[in-house]
Amino acid sequence: MSRYTVTLLPGDGIGPEVTDAVCTVLRAAEVPIEWERFDSVGHAGMEAHGTPLPEAVLESIRRNRVALKGPVTTPLVEGFRSVNVSLRQKLDLYANVRPCRNLPGVETRFEEVDLVIFRENTEGLYSGIETYDERLQIADSIARITRRGSQRILRFAFEWARANGRQRMTAVHKANVVKISTGLFLQEAIAMAPEYPEIEFDHRIVDNMAMQLVMRPEEFDCVVTTNLFGDILSDLCAGLVGGLGLVPGANIGDDAAVFEAVHGSAPDIAGHKKANPTALIRTAILMLRHLGESAAAGAVESALLQLYREGRWLTRDVGGSCSTGEFALRLAERVQNVSHAIDRTGS
Ligand code: NAI
Ligand code: MG
Repeated sequence: MSRYTVTLLPGDGIGPEVTDAVCTVLRAAEVPIEWERFDSVGHAGMEAHGTPLPEAVLESIRRNRVALKGPVTTPLVEGFRSVNVSLRQKLDLYANVRPCRNLPGVETRFEEVDLVIFRENTEGLYSGIETYDERLQIADSIARITRRGSQRILRFAFEWARANGRQRMTAVHKANVVKISTGLFLQEAIAMAPEYPEIEFDHRIVDNMAMQLVMRPEEFDCVVTTNLFGDILSDLCAGLVGGLGLVPGANIGDDAAVFEAVHGSAPDIAGHKKANPTALIRTAILMLRHLGESAAAGAVESALLQLYREGRWLTRDVGGSCSTGEFALRLAERVQNVSHAIDRTGS
């Protein structure tokens, strides 16, 4: 019998390709997961059920409390809200965690990047409070920030940093100009920091932070910020370690967690078998740790590092020529070898 039932949303674009790769790798790790799969979200959901986010999907995630999700395209023109934003808001997944770390064999400008971005995931400029006054021709988007919303993402970030032995927390804001809303976030960060004396705390204005991250990323450790800044800075940090094909993510709330990579549906390469599944595989490693499957997580992680160190079976975005599927098969072989080695040594 399966020990875990996990909701699986392959998404669209490169989503199904990278999701298949993850399923191949997790099968090799012999984690007892039964997937509850929904293909009809986003545009496909609209066609099949008249809604981009069918209620059955939300019910499944609420029941299972864990989901693995591929990217979902948000068309610029059609009249439905982003499935990604809706999912995070409806399930109150307030903490978006995005670790960015170098991989062996992936050449980048910096070698010692090891950052974790904590992005507030439910409010700020993505609150969805938007109006357009036809008569005055004025568009408003409200960047609502609440004290409770700020406190809970900050608490999450500091607790995570403490539990994982991290050294430093930088709060990122724009309180010099957007004084009331991002000022509230900054004020809460300054108030909470003394509760974590072992973590060095400082804060930066977002534009300056962007520059410092591209000049000296190795000096930063944990970064906590509001929704829009976190969205932008996490793609920036993905670039520091080799691109969007490599960086995982997790959306975590008190009742459920949805694991998804930072990248989108990559329409420019979808269907070409070029997508790098590493980002979603690292995302699955985060999910395994969340489930308490740390041995399987460790096996997949060491197999992944081994494959990158070998350098022969990489996808095009990181200088190789492997297809998505071939990469997954090579990784699955190594996962099996690592797992069997662990079984033999009994560790
Ligand atoms: P994107 O992240 O899809 O792609 C940006 C660039 O990175 C492209 O050149 C793409 O080929 C490359 N890339 C992304 N993932 C890759 C991978 N795994 N392997 C190799 N290369 C990869 O961003 P873009 O083009 O701005 O957005 C496309 C669509 O995705 C939009 O509709 C957007 O709304 C949606 N999106 C969805 C997200 C989600 O479901 N969580 C997150 C971000 C965007
Ligand atoms: Mg983004």
